[in-house]
Amino acid sequence: MHPSATPSKSATKHPDVLVIGGGIIGLVTAWRTAGRGLSVAVADPAPGGGAAHVAAGMLAAVTELHYGEQTLLGLNLASARRYPRFTDELEEAAGQRIGYRRCGTLAVALDADDRAHLRELHALQIRSGLDSQWLTGRECRRLEPMLAPGVRGGLRVDGDHQVDPRRLAGALLVACERAGVVFHRSRAERLTVDGGRASGAELADGTRLSAGQVVLAAGSHSVRLAGVPDEVLPPVRPVKGQVLRLRLPQMPAGSAAFLSRTVRAVVHGGPLYLVPRESGELVVGATSEEMGWDTTVTAGGVYELLRDAHELVPGITELPLVETCAGLRPGSPDNAPLLGPTELPGLHLATGHFRNGVLLTPVTGDAMAEVLATGSLPEEARPFSPTRFSATAPGPERVRAPQEQPV
Ligand code: GLY
Repeated sequence: MHPSATPSKSATKHPDVLVIGGGIIGLVTAWRTAGRGLSVAVADPAPGGGAAHVAAGMLAAVTELHYGEQTLLGLNLASARRYPRFTDELEEAAGQRIGYRRCGTLAVALDADDRAHLRELHALQIRSGLDSQWLTGRECRRLEPMLAPGVRGGLRVDGDHQVDPRRLAGALLVACERAGVVFHRSRAERLTVDGGRASGAELADGTRLSAGQVVLAAGSHSVRLAGVPDEVLPPVRPVKGQVLRLRLPQMPAGSAAFLSRTVRAVVHGGPLYLVPRESGELVVGATSEEMGWDTTVTAGGVYELLRDAHELVPGITELPLVETCAGLRPGSPDNAPLLGPTELPGLHLATGHFRNGVLLTPVTGDAMAEVLATGSLPEEARPFSPTRFSATAPGPERVRAPQEQPV
C-alpha cells in the first residue's frame, strides 16, 4: 500500500494479513508487509508496548555470542548489518529518530574467573571470524575512566551498537499508520480455523476478523492464544528481565562522558550491562528469571542490579534512579526465533526472539514480508522455520511449552 494511503473498506474488514501482536516484531512485520502492497491489520490492545518497552536495545551480535548459537549468529549479524539502512528508512517513514548510536561495546572482567570466561568468549569470537580486541584492565579504564580500578581485562567490540527500543516502537507505530496498516486495539483471544486453514481471529471486544494470512507475533504470549492446534503452538516461554533506568549527569562541555559506550560484564555469574544513551538515560540490566508471567519488580532484583553495577562502575550510586521495570523475553528451546509458515496453512509465526528481539527487528521484518508476499522464506531465515520443532522434524528433539488458557 502506498504510504499515507487510506485503507479500503474491504481491506479493513478482510485484510490480506492479520498480525496478532503489536510489539516491535509485529509492527515491523506489518510495516514491511504493507510496503509490499498487501493490506495489513494488527490486533493489540496497546500497540508499541511489549518487551521493547523494557529492553535496553543493545545490538550485541558479537558480545552476546554464546556457545552453540553459531547459526543464530549468522542471522544476528545479517540484522546488525541492516540497521543503518533500516534506521534511515524508518526515520524517514515516521519522521522521528530512533536513537541508533554507533557507540561500540566494552565487555570487561572483574576477577580471575570472569577473565577466564572472557578469554573463552574471545577465542570463540575469533574462531567465528568476528572483530574483537583483547584489552588489559588499564586499557579498559583508559577508554572508560569510570570503571572500577579492579577491572582485570576486557574485549573491545566496536561493531556492537545500540538503539532506543521505545523510540523504535514509537516510530514503527507511526510508519505503520502512514502505510495504511489498520489497528484493532483489542486482544486477540482465539485463532479461527476454517477448512483446515487459519482464517482470522476473535478479539476480546467481540470483533471477528478474517484475513488471507495470519501472523502470530505476540512474543511470549504467543503460546496463550486459544484455538491454535497443538501441533503448531509455538514452544515459547516467558523469561523475566528486570531493568533499571538512571539519569546521567550533564558533563561540562569538552569533558569525557560518564560512559561513552555500552559496558558489559559477568558479575557474580550473572550478565550485567550498562547502556548510556545520548538522551542522558543510562539503562542497567538485566535479571533473567523463569517465573512464568510474573512481571513484578522485586527489591531483590533491584538490589542485585545496583550491587553489581556499583562493583563495575562505583560512581553509579550517585545517579538518580528514575525507573524500574520488568518485561518478558520470549524464550525458545534453542534461543532462536521462529519465523515463517507453520504446518497449519495460513498461519505464520514471528516469535521466540528471546534476547535478540531488538537486534533481529530489521531482518525479521524483511523475512516476514518476503514470505507473506511471495510464499517463500529468504535463505537466511530458513534455519529458523517453526517446523524445526515439529514432531516429524529430524534433529533435536521437539520441545513444547505447556498450553495455557487465555487470560
Ligand atoms: N539482550 C539483553 C537481554 O536479554 O537482557
